[in-house]
Amino acid sequence: MTNRQKCVLAYSGGLDTSVAIRWMTETLGFDVVALSIDLGEAKDLRAVQERALRTGAVAAYVVDARRLFVENFAFPSLMAEALYEGVYPLATALGRPLIAKLLVDLAREEGASAVAHGCTGKGNDQVRFDVAVAALAPELQVVAPVRDWDMGRPDELRYAAEHGIEVPVTAESPYSVDANLWGRSIEAGALEDPWQEPPPDVFAWTADAAEAPARGAQAEIRLEHGVPVAVDGEALAPDALVERLNELGGAHGVGRIDHVENRLVGIKSREVYEAPAAAILFAAHAALETLTLSRDVMRFKRIVADEWARLVYEGLWFSALRHDLWAFVRSTQEFVTGDVRLRLQRGAIRVVGRKAPESLYRHDLATYDRAQDRFSHDAARGFIELFGLPLRTQTSVQGALGEAARRLLPERLERLEAPRG
Ligand code: ARG
Repeated sequence: MTNRQKCVLAYSGGLDTSVAIRWMTETLGFDVVALSIDLGEAKDLRAVQERALRTGAVAAYVVDARRLFVENFAFPSLMAEALYEGVYPLATALGRPLIAKLLVDLAREEGASAVAHGCTGKGNDQVRFDVAVAALAPELQVVAPVRDWDMGRPDELRYAAEHGIEVPVTAESPYSVDANLWGRSIEAGALEDPWQEPPPDVFAWTADAAEAPARGAQAEIRLEHGVPVAVDGEALAPDALVERLNELGGAHGVGRIDHVENRLVGIKSREVYEAPAAAILFAAHAALETLTLSRDVMRFKRIVADEWARLVYEGLWFSALRHDLWAFVRSTQEFVTGDVRLRLQRGAIRVVGRKAPESLYRHDLATYDRAQDRFSHDAARGFIELFGLPLRTQTSVQGALGEAARRLLPERLERLEAPRG
């Protein structure tokens, strides 16, 4: 038994967190407990767990959190239709609060006084971890060894060699990658030049659209109260459903995103994402909402989506506002039940059909078939009279405003007269 304080480290098995185990033990005097969390990154966590112990952790845990992640973080965000800056489905950002929560839970279980993560001092993730842990467990210290030590990669490799720390055998990648079921993010290397097209080696989940099968594929997604529950008639658990669509979408090259993003820490960075399942599900979910939500709810919900995305991106998952927005979002999903048919083809996702038992689409109101039409054409006249009233009032007093209100016809008009008979 030691009297040393314990620290629970989110351990990925990579170089940074491996060096961190030893560095926190030797330099900070912690007993390090490693926690490796499976969010669907598809790596051998048993091997990672064993490596943690060989590297000097006093204990090592592995947790499969895939279901928790999809059910409680990814799908609620889908229901909100939240995309950061209109494009990023927030995969990494959604994983952080869950990891923070699991670190806190284990720290309490183990009687630890601190938790640790391997984030650098330049990204969003450090903010998300620090803020989330402080919100959940203000009594815990948050240690960020990679942010605090003054080592570059060569220094870390030297440190590893000197301390007999095995360096993970993964081929050295020029990119910084983070992945979970909801998406894969790639940054750095050649991507740091925003003018440079992403080289093919950036992508691991998605086929090049040009090489995807020309015929494409069709998929039918069933949603219940906003939650995806089946693909092509087969009921699937949340994590299995997302896995299925990542594979299907990946094969057809959908879900690639190339974005220059505004980071929370004030810099712009060029990010490439692969998120086939998220791309498909966002398209399907939005299509079902076009049938089942009123125009006003849809309009207001877009504002909420933006706020939700910002809060998640900024690490404020556990904030009162995010919680309150969830009450709104969940309430909007009451009738978002139905089926959406999509075509995936060479990088494109097209919604080609949608139906819902509580659809607000009324054929008898929409049809151009006179025999079936129940829409009141007479009422349209009165509606337009009043709808146009403020505009007529304004232009009659102040004139029609703007460039286009001037004469737009050419000076010389070519005029043909009807022949006199
Ligand atoms: N820019 C994204 C975010 O802040 C992804 C960051 C993931 N980290 C990485 N090393 N690629 O959520």
